[in-house]
Amino acid sequence: MSVEKKDLDWGNLSFSYQPTDYSYVSEWRDGAWDEGGLTTDHSITLSECAGIFHYCQEVFEGLKAYTTEDGSIVAFRPDLNAERMHDSAARLEMPPFPKERFIEAVREVVAANAAWVPPYGSGASLYVRPFMIGSGEVIGVAPAPSYHFHILVTPVGPYFKGGLKPIKLKIASYDRAAPHGTGNIKAGLNYAMSLKPTMDAHRTGFAENLYLDSESRTFVEETGGANVLFVTADGTLVVPQSHTDSILPSITRRSLVQVARDLGITVDERPVEWAEVKSGAFVECGLCGTAAVISPVGEIHEGDAVVSFPGGHDEMGPVMTRLRETLTGIQDGALEDKHGWVFKIA
Ligand code: PLP
Ligand code: COI
Repeated sequence: MSVEKKDLDWGNLSFSYQPTDYSYVSEWRDGAWDEGGLTTDHSITLSECAGIFHYCQEVFEGLKAYTTEDGSIVAFRPDLNAERMHDSAARLEMPPFPKERFIEAVREVVAANAAWVPPYGSGASLYVRPFMIGSGEVIGVAPAPSYHFHILVTPVGPYFKGGLKPIKLKIASYDRAAPHGTGNIKAGLNYAMSLKPTMDAHRTGFAENLYLDSESRTFVEETGGANVLFVTADGTLVVPQSHTDSILPSITRRSLVQVARDLGITVDERPVEWAEVKSGAFVECGLCGTAAVISPVGEIHEGDAVVSFPGGHDEMGPVMTRLRETLTGIQDGALEDKHGWVFKIA
């Protein structure tokens, strides 16, 4: 059944919030999640002593829903978001929201907001943001005694202004994640500490920071909101790994590794030294994530030194383009979904 879409300028949406018709909410208290359900109330009222306000007990997820060519509404691999949120919650001593219920809640809230899912071909999508907060009162450092799980949805366009134009990164002078800390989970605390470096980057003309590992400042990790990928002159896709478990396990990156293998591209997942990047070993660079999809990187600056990627400096390079087209083709139903990644909602 198709619904009449909202009257929005779908082709010109930015990556920003606007409330839709419904959010999803469930509360955990006395050791159990309640039955949960949809709400038209997009606000939350909490005690001044709620755990979220004092000890930052918050985890979140990000995924997208799309309209396919035949008018269906689908989401991309929500099972992996459910799993990652489970891991994130466990790391912050929060009660994980059951994976099957997470997937069902995504289905319910996206279906209820079908009129807000951007039409096929608009380049936009419905961003789905599940999050969980410590809502119960704590004053000593301790896990909160109760929790809220919410999902908000909002229609979005490209994360980086300029869409597919290669962006410039700088090597951050701050660190993103401690070795064996929380860099491998999706918790708001990781982003609070990235705000200053992010704004410093923006103020000096860069789209984002590329963070090095904080233990040795030798290896490339990722940016504030996306994993990084490189391509060598012989067409190998090089995917940085962390010795210290401080890179977020991006679902887009894990999918692209499979897509690359399916396309016959050699994939090398290993630690990557910043010195190797500086030596000119790579011809293309890109950022990948739900919000970023694949965004090409043209240059990385470290002080006055500039690393330029000749295969994708002025426009997205051939390997990144192939990966992006294949992934988005699978997501919007134009290409075969061999791995069962596309989750039909309506
Ligand atoms: N790395 C960070 C720090 C992120 O915030 C994100 C966004 O979710 C990603 C990587 C990409 O992950 P995913 O592809 O699962 O969206
Ligand atoms: C996402 O890609 O879903 C993210 O959460 C990145 C965020 C920084 C917008």
